[in-house]
Amino acid sequence: MDTVFVSGPLLGDALEALREAPFEVVLDEGGVGSDAFAASADRVRGIVTLITDRVDAALLARTPRLAIVANVAVGVDNVDLEACRARGIVVTNTPDVLTEATADLAFGLLIDAARRISEGDRLVRAGGWERWTPTFHLGQRVHGMKLGIVGFGRIGKAVARRARGFGMHVGYTQRRREPEALERALGATWVPSLDELCATSDAITIHVPLTPESRHLFDAKRLAAMRPGSILVNTARGAVVDEAALAYALEHGPLAAAGLDVFEREPAVHPALLARENAVLAPHIGSADRETREAMASLAAANVIRVLSGQPPLTPLV
Ligand code: DGY
Repeated sequence: MDTVFVSGPLLGDALEALREAPFEVVLDEGGVGSDAFAASADRVRGIVTLITDRVDAALLARTPRLAIVANVAVGVDNVDLEACRARGIVVTNTPDVLTEATADLAFGLLIDAARRISEGDRLVRAGGWERWTPTFHLGQRVHGMKLGIVGFGRIGKAVARRARGFGMHVGYTQRRREPEALERALGATWVPSLDELCATSDAITIHVPLTPESRHLFDAKRLAAMRPGSILVNTARGAVVDEAALAYALEHGPLAAAGLDVFEREPAVHPALLARENAVLAPHIGSADRETREAMASLAAANVIRVLSGQPPLTPLV
C-alpha cells in the first residue's frame, strides 16, 4: 500500500478519501519537520503539504519514492519546482477554489483600511470614543475609488468584479493585456507601467505570486512613489513588499493606510508595522472560510489519488 504523508488537519472528506484509496495515511501537524515524517520519508509516495512546509532539494533527497507533492494552496513558493521537475515529481496546487474567498478578504481589508474600522474598534474598546462629531475618525471614501490591481489572474479579476459594484475605476497591470471584451466586461483598463499605476491609484491591491522577480517588488523606492494618501492591500505573499519600508511609508507618507494578510516572516510581523495604527493586520486568512478550505483539501487529495493511480492530476504545475 502506498504511503501518503499529510501535513496538518484537513477539513471535509479529504482524509477519508485518501484512506479509502487505499493509502497508508501518516498525519502529523508538525509537517515535514516532524518525527512522523522522518520515520516515513523513505517510503512516502505522496505528500499533502501546507505553505508552512518547505519542499526543497534536501527533503527530496530523503524521499526516494516520492511521486507527488500536493500543496494545499495556490501559492507554491514553499516548493522548489525545479528540483521536483528534475526528479519527475508532480507538483499540484489548489487554484480556482479559493479565488472568491481571497478576493473577499482583499476587499474587506481595503474597506477596513480606508474607513479605519479596526482602528475604530480598538478605540471604542479602549474607552476612547467621547462623542459623535462631524470631524471624528474620518476615513477615505471607498465608492468610486481608483483601484490599481497588480497581477490580473483569477484573484485579481475577482477583485475587479467586486470593484464594479463599488463604482470604482479599475486599472490593472501585468505583462500582457487582456482581450478587450474581457476588459469591457470587468470595466478594467490596462496600465502597462506598474509605476504609473502606483502613482495614479487611490489604492493598490497585490495579486502576484512570490518569485525571484516579485520579491520586494514594493521596495522603499516604489512605495515612496505611490500616490500621496493612498492605500496598499496585500493578500498575495508578504515578501512582495519590503515590510520595513512599508512601515516607514505608513509613518512618514505617502501611504495613508495598508491592509495586510501576509507577512515576510510569518507568523512574525515587523515591530514597526505592529506599531502602526493605520495598518490593518490579518493572520493569513485569505482562504479561511470553511467551504473554501474543504474544497482546497478535497482538490489536493484528488490530485494525490489520481497521480498514485496512474491518472493525470487535476491541477498540475510540474
Ligand atoms: C494560498 O493559497 O496560496 C494562500 O496563501 C493560502 O490559502
